[in-house]
Amino acid sequence: MSLNPTAFHFPFTFNMSYQKTLNIGLFGYGVVGSAVYEVLNHTPSLQASISKICIKNPDKPRNIDEAFFTVDKWQLIDNEEINVIVEMTDDAVAAIEIVRESLMRGKAVITANKKMVAEHLAELVELQRKYNVPLLYESACCASIPVIRNLEEYYDNDLLHGVEGIINGSTNFILTKLFEEKLSYPDALAEAQRLGFAESDPSLDVEGHDALNKLCLLLAHAYGILAHPSSLLCHGIHRLNPIDSEVAAAQGAQIKLVARAMKQANGQIAAFVLPQFVKPPHLLHNVRNEYNGVVLTSALADEQFFYGKGAGGFPTASAILADLSALRYDYRYEYKKMLLQEPSVLCEDVKLNVYVSFQDWQMLPVDAFEEIHEYYSGRKFHYRKGIVSLRKLLSSDWWKKEGVSLVLMETGISE
Ligand SMILES: NC(=O)c1ccc[n+]([C@@H]2O[C@H](COP(=O)([O-])OP(=O)(O)OC[C@H]3O[C@@H](n4cnc5c(N)ncnc54)[C@H](OP(=O)(O)O)[C@@H]3O)[C@@H](O)[C@H]2O)c1
Repeated sequence: MSLNPTAFHFPFTFNMSYQKTLNIGLFGYGVVGSAVYEVLNHTPSLQASISKICIKNPDKPRNIDEAFFTVDKWQLIDNEEINVIVEMTDDAVAAIEIVRESLMRGKAVITANKKMVAEHLAELVELQRKYNVPLLYESACCASIPVIRNLEEYYDNDLLHGVEGIINGSTNFILTKLFEEKLSYPDALAEAQRLGFAESDPSLDVEGHDALNKLCLLLAHAYGILAHPSSLLCHGIHRLNPIDSEVAAAQGAQIKLVARAMKQANGQIAAFVLPQFVKPPHLLHNVRNEYNGVVLTSALADEQFFYGKGAGGFPTASAILADLSALRYDYRYEYKKMLLQEPSVLCEDVKLNVYVSFQDWQMLPVDAFEEIHEYYSGRKFHYRKGIVSLRKLLSSDWWKKEGVSLVLMETGISE
């Protein structure tokens, strides 16, 4: 796909004289990095240009002048003319080094690397404060949907009851293909990878880690909670059993991978990522393929729904473009909700209404359920529906084993 510059219309002219010129050092020229390059070439009004691109493999054929490329990160980080680093590698270990060194040199940074941001958010918040430089990462959560900045700015004074969303495009694409086109799991995954929706390491997507990393970003901007991904409950779609889709269909539902952060009666926040039965009229039911959807529930505004492409080069580049544009007027996240007198905290004393299918009775501990509402025993699979404790799930691993599938019921959190 190539861009048609005549498709862009600018009905207004702004006085941009006070805004900065952005001289960019780009890391990564893959799906997202190359899209950023192409989009910037068609957006001269932004006054942003890429002066150097750092990649990993010098022998890979590229579609632009090879003089742009280097494998030496210091040529970008130590270049005083570069005032913005756009970090688009797929390597979280390399990325934190690049971002840390860049912030320490006073360069603004934009990144799409949710794994890196989620795992190092406390340090990154402190680096921004210490060196007085912005780090923006709108594209790291739901690609084209502007959910981070909205949570940061708009929902400041509102009573935000909850955030729930389909925030991983490739698992949603795979689940759509499984449910609607009856594709096999390996075929659906291969298709997601072919179309550039899946991470280069697919376990990040299908085991739920990618959604979990994004949930950590949502938690920080919705509630001011800094949670390391390893501290939250997370289960992906990789353990779904064939019987699960039959059970879902029988109740008119599909299975979606849903991340949520919900305020409880005591004001604390329950946050986790789980596959869930979702049926109409739930707003997430119609979120299909690589699309993402986020439902925000607040006391005054009730439900609001954000919907858009959550993966792919150009949708991701659109959020990066928005971050670049924001940098021109010195925008930065203030992490206001972390500074509240009574900041929100996470809560583990939560009862979950779940469905668990399994191949062998020995896979299920006798005390796994606090209440059992329904059970079924078949030749190949068995299932139970009932109440489990979030705290007990966090301290056990029976539900992670091969052959066991854990899915949240529609009712989700039990009162
Ligand atoms: N794809 C999406 O839809 C999407 C959406 C939202 C966010 N993201 C995030 O965006 C980032 C990039 O994703 P992608 O899909 O564009 O990945 P990709 O297509 O695999 O490209 C990765 C790029 O990073 C370069 N790279 C890897 N290690 C590097 C290092 N140490 N130094 C310099 N360059 C390095 C690679 O270089 P070579 O070209 O030499 O191999 C390649 O150009 C990831 O953090 C991803 O999570 C992706």
